[in-house]
Amino acid sequence: MDTIRPSVLFQPERLVALRSTGYVPLTQHDSHPPKPLMPIPSRASDKALFTPGPLTTSLAVKQAMLHDAGSWHFEFNAKVAAIRKTLLHLGGVSQAAGYECILLQGSGSFGVESVFATAVPPNGKVLVLVNGAYGERMVQMLQHAKINHSVLRFPENEAPDATAVAKALDEDPSIGFVAVIHCETTTGILNPLEELSKVVKQRERAFFVDAMSSFGAVPIDLESLGIDFMVSSANKAIEGVPGFSYILARREALLANEGHARSLCLDLVAQLRCFEKNGQFRYSPPTHSLLAFEQALKELEEEGGIEARGQRYAENHQTLITGMRELGFKSYLPEALQSFIITSFHYPTSPAFDFQTFYRRLSDKGKIIYPGKISQGDLFRIGSIGRLFPADMEALIDAIARVTQELKITL
Ligand SMILES: Cc1ncc(COP(=O)(O)O)c(C=O)c1O
Repeated sequence: MDTIRPSVLFQPERLVALRSTGYVPLTQHDSHPPKPLMPIPSRASDKALFTPGPLTTSLAVKQAMLHDAGSWHFEFNAKVAAIRKTLLHLGGVSQAAGYECILLQGSGSFGVESVFATAVPPNGKVLVLVNGAYGERMVQMLQHAKINHSVLRFPENEAPDATAVAKALDEDPSIGFVAVIHCETTTGILNPLEELSKVVKQRERAFFVDAMSSFGAVPIDLESLGIDFMVSSANKAIEGVPGFSYILARREALLANEGHARSLCLDLVAQLRCFEKNGQFRYSPPTHSLLAFEQALKELEEEGGIEARGQRYAENHQTLITGMRELGFKSYLPEALQSFIITSFHYPTSPAFDFQTFYRRLSDKGKIIYPGKISQGDLFRIGSIGRLFPADMEALIDAIARVTQELKITL
């Protein structure tokens, strides 16, 4: 990389050369301010992401990041406070009702791990309901933190069985905490929160839901579902960019373990105490990501809130599944369990099908799909979330039809 001394910037010919590399000096010294050198990435020029996130965002969300914010400045803190309040509102709760929203630097997994690190008492035991890779990741987190746990595993194309959960809780009174994924993005299955919550709450255990890919598109009312802890992240259905996760927590359940955190950085109570004290993150916040998120929340509201967003995603999913079936592709999940977030498809049996080639050809046509993640079997996945509309799904189907023809894949 070029190292640039300030004096170099005053040499016009050098500046022209630097500009051709995309370098823009922070302070413009010449009298004619240059036009922006790099085109602002727009929805039109980027490849469309048919993924579960990070996902395609609006131009305005990207543009919101073209500003620098003072991380401890009162104007920025006011934005952080408003974001926390709005997220509680989207979860159907409020501080007055006894809930807190904690923003945490890092991706969604950091948020999930922070709940285990903070909210499970020192001798506590967790029951994890697993029917995919993100449930398995929870188990790994508990192993790393040396937290006592047991696991109920279900096939990846089946929902966790509430009767089996009830039995496990009745047989082991030492389990104080039940963790489950809402939309298991591994396959796209939507796990039945209501049924599961009922057995957990009847037995007075804490209920922890990873709603990473569903929150913002599927209504989740924490109070009526008896959810004590819920995690999602900035770059999912709210349509922000990566940088932080957020945790909605019942205050009493969270504070019950103050001082017991197993991690310094993932201590949610310490993070909350900082927000309470001065409105600030404990350590450097992802400022640009938060500015983008503020805009993403505005866009969610303009669209008509969670229901309207869910409606758009459902239309995206319907367009996708209809088109794929017409082409001859087979989806993996039974329809009753399939979310509108992401859909898994079986590889075609045609010997001409090679996922890497298929993926590359679609990328050449401006469409990014997602590989499979199940433990057994060959699948690929297509997401319906992000700044995508039914017309984008139709364009994807058209591209898939062309690629299958080009590669002579029989369906
Ligand atoms: C349900 C679920 N949990 C956890 C994660 C992990 O999130 P991240 O990749 O942001 O750490 C994901 C990611 O897609 C997810 O879908």
